[in-house]
Amino acid sequence: MIIKNIKIIDILQDGRGVARTEGKTVFVENAVYGETLDAEILAEKKNFLEARKSQTKLKSDYQRKPPCPYFYECGGCSIMDINYKTQIDLKQNLIKNAIKKSTGINLEDIEVIESPEFSYRNKIRLQVDKDGGLNYLETYSKKMVKIDDCLIANEKIAENLVDIAKITREINQKFTGIIEEISIRASEKNILLNLQGNFNNKAIAYIKERYSNSIYNINLLVARDLIIISGEGYLDYKIGQKEFKISANDFYQVNDYQIEKLYGVAREFLGENQKLLDLYCGSATSSMSINDDNIVGVEINKNAIEDAKENAKRNGLRDYKFIAKNAKFIDNNFINKEKIDAITVDPPRAGLDKEVVKTIANADIEKIVYISCNPQTLARDIKRFIDRGYKLEKIKAVDMFPQTMHVETVVLMSRK
Ligand SMILES: C[S@@+](CC[C@H](N)C(=O)[O-])C[C@H]1O[C@@H](n2cnc3c(N)ncnc32)[C@H](O)[C@@H]1O
Repeated sequence: MIIKNIKIIDILQDGRGVARTEGKTVFVENAVYGETLDAEILAEKKNFLEARKSQTKLKSDYQRKPPCPYFYECGGCSIMDINYKTQIDLKQNLIKNAIKKSTGINLEDIEVIESPEFSYRNKIRLQVDKDGGLNYLETYSKKMVKIDDCLIANEKIAENLVDIAKITREINQKFTGIIEEISIRASEKNILLNLQGNFNNKAIAYIKERYSNSIYNINLLVARDLIIISGEGYLDYKIGQKEFKISANDFYQVNDYQIEKLYGVAREFLGENQKLLDLYCGSATSSMSINDDNIVGVEINKNAIEDAKENAKRNGLRDYKFIAKNAKFIDNNFINKEKIDAITVDPPRAGLDKEVVKTIANADIEKIVYISCNPQTLARDIKRFIDRGYKLEKIKAVDMFPQTMHVETVVLMSRK
C-alpha cells in the first residue's frame, strides 16, 4: 500500500525519515529531510508504520547533490544529501528531543561544535569480498557496495585504499575469501590494518612470509587473538601536547579534527586539578586531556589499561592508577578510599549500567561529566541521575561524525 504526500519532518539516528499521517508516525527509508513524498508501507505496527520512499513529490529546501558517487547505495553515510548546516540543526534536535522525552526538560539551543565535513575519519571498517575487493554495506539490504574511495576517510587512508586492496586481493585470491573484514586506522605517521577472518596455519605462515616487511602495520585477528604480521600492533597519536600509544583493539575517537575539542569541552565543564575517576577510560586519552595528573581509570579492556599505564608514563603523570575491571563492579568504598573529587564517564552506545549510576550517586560526588555517543541512552541516564538528586548543569555537543546522524554530547551534572 502507498501513503501519499507525507512530509519528512525529522531524521532518526539510523537515517530514516520521520513523517506523520492520520495520527500515526511513519519511519521512511531513503527519505530526505524536508521533502514531501509517497511511500510504500513495509510494516504496520501498533503505534507506527515502516515504509520506503516510492517517489519524491516536492524536493527538500535543504537538499544538495551528494558529493560521493556511492552515497545512494553505501550505508556508511546517511545524510550527505542535505547541507551541513541542516545536519547540525538535526543533531541539535535529536539531543533536545531525547532529553525532553526522558526528563521533561525543555532545553534552549545546544551548541554543536562543527567539524570539517570530509576527510575526517582516522578509522574505517570495510567488508572484504571473496575476491579481496573492499566494500561498505548497503544500509537496508546489507549487500556489499564496492568502493575505491571514501570521502569521509582521512587523506592518509583514502590515498592508500587502492594499495591496501592489492593486499586483500592477493590474499583472498590465494586462500579463497579468507579475509572477511578489514579495519584501517591511520595516525600521522602510520597505517594499521586489522584483518579479520578464519585464518588457518598455512595462511598465517604465508601472510607472515609475504607481508612481514610491509609498509603498513598488519595484524590478523584470529578468534580474539591478535597476530602481529608487521609493525608494532599499535599506533602513536598526539592530542594537544600529549602523546598516546593506542593498540590495535583499543577504542580511539575517530575524528582527527574534533578529538581535542571534545575533551576540551569536558575540561571546560570540570575544571582542572581535581582527583578524577575516569570510568570507561579506554587508553586514558580523555582523562589525560582533562587532567595533567591525579587520575584513576577503570576500563574492561585489559590491553587498553596497559596502554593507559604506558600513556601515563609518556606524559609524566605521577599520581595515577588504572584498573582493568567492569565499571559496574566499582563501589563506594573504592571511590571514598581513592578520595575522588569528580567523575567522568564515557560508556559505549548502551550507556551506563544502572548499578554505575547508583554507585556514583551514593558516593556523593559533586561533579559528573558524561561523554556520550548516543543521545537516547544519555537522556535515560540523565533522568536516573536527576532521580538521585543531580541537576543537569551544562550541555554541549561536538560533531564527530558529519554525513551521519551520530553526534557526541558532553554533559555536566552536579549535586543540587
Ligand atoms: C566510548 S569508549 C571511551 C574510551 C575513552 N574514554 C576515550 O575517549 O578514548 C568506551 C570504553 O568503554 C569500555 N567498556 C565497555 N564496557 C565496559 C564496562 N562494562 N566497564 C568498563 N569499561 C567498559 C570500552 O572498552 C571502551 O574503551
